[in-house]
Amino acid sequence: MTDQLRAAVIGAGYWGPNLARNFRTSPDWDLVAVCDLDESRARRVVGARSTVEVMTSVDDLLARDDIDAVAVATPARTHAALVTAALRAGKHVVVEKPIADGGAAARQMRALAAEVDRVLMVDHTFCYTAPVLKIRELIADGALGDIHYVDSVRINLGLVQPDVDVFWDLAPHDLSILDFILPGGLVPTGVAAQGADPLGVGQACVGYLTLPLPDGAIAHVHVNWLSPTKIRQVVIGGSKRTIVWDDLQPQQRVTVYDRGIDLVAGAGADAAQKQAVNISYRLGDAWAPALPEREALGVMVGELAAAIREGRPPRTDASAGIRVLDVLEAASLSLNDGGRLTQLRDTVALPMAGVRA
Ligand SMILES: NC(=O)c1ccc[n+]([C@@H]2O[C@H](COP(=O)([O-])OP(=O)(O)OC[C@H]3O[C@@H](n4cnc5c(N)ncnc54)[C@H](O)[C@@H]3O)[C@@H](O)[C@H]2O)c1
Repeated sequence: MTDQLRAAVIGAGYWGPNLARNFRTSPDWDLVAVCDLDESRARRVVGARSTVEVMTSVDDLLARDDIDAVAVATPARTHAALVTAALRAGKHVVVEKPIADGGAAARQMRALAAEVDRVLMVDHTFCYTAPVLKIRELIADGALGDIHYVDSVRINLGLVQPDVDVFWDLAPHDLSILDFILPGGLVPTGVAAQGADPLGVGQACVGYLTLPLPDGAIAHVHVNWLSPTKIRQVVIGGSKRTIVWDDLQPQQRVTVYDRGIDLVAGAGADAAQKQAVNISYRLGDAWAPALPEREALGVMVGELAAAIREGRPPRTDASAGIRVLDVLEAASLSLNDGGRLTQLRDTVALPMAGVRA
């Protein structure tokens, strides 16, 4: 294809190779280079016979004029500096989650992208999976009615990370999904976080996030590195229907239940009877929507290309990244304050409580 866009990946650790593979196989993209401070890592990703270049200097990479966009897959604390340099060099950018290690830096990155008129996208990978795209569509079409609650569980025997707690490691996934599927995005009225470090590793390994939502709804997120069993389940209850998404059931990841509780105004002759509210149980069908089997990162790099070509914000733009980051920062404040319900605010001057330098 002659109109392919040209990409480079910065960071060839755990996640970068997945990005490189998807840029390589996408019809929209030509992968030009992979850059890592550790040359051997970049070389391993590129392979022996490839024409993709291996680089170790970000400055040299950004000075090239044959690269349209870079993907930043380095640790969170390095995102702000690398993304800023890439935008200043005129590149479009997709950055790994979380967008940055603090809300102030993320807001500067968003402002710079607008100023230099480049796309700044966050890789909220789950938003490009078939279940999440279908759930978003069902909610937007009104199939669930008003959202009453969301219960998200993401637990397994996880890698205890040296620099982030379990909230910053796992909850970005749940929060980015909530931001993507809830009409109006993730704008909780507060955040309460409780966590535990029963092993004494120095940071929370088990975490519970409670997010009151507008109109009396509520979301809850349970993240845990210490569970012997792996659970990836989200329940989204609505006034009309409820969705259960079990990501570990490939045959039927998403089930829509036409079951729930209805409130019906009391019938009867006198005022007291009319005022009484009766609870009625609805026991309707359950069905499973067909979901295409596509790799989420392939859809993600396609969306990046489309956003660049059409000159529009991508679906998971910098603002989505900032909404997720604001909740994470409020969660860290709440955690250090005994789980108190904490308001989201512009946390410009705050040190980052969940990520160690
Ligand atoms: N979207 C997802 O589902 C998902 C999954 C895992 C990780 N991630 C994100 O990906 C990012 C990277 O995580 P990881 O687990 O791959 O980390 P990692 O530590 O395995 O790899 C990071 C790599 O970046 C390189 N690096 C660091 N600073 C650099 C610089 N200035 N220039 C060039 N290379 C540099 C390191 O040498 C290393 O090879 C994080 O933001 C993480 O949150 C996203």
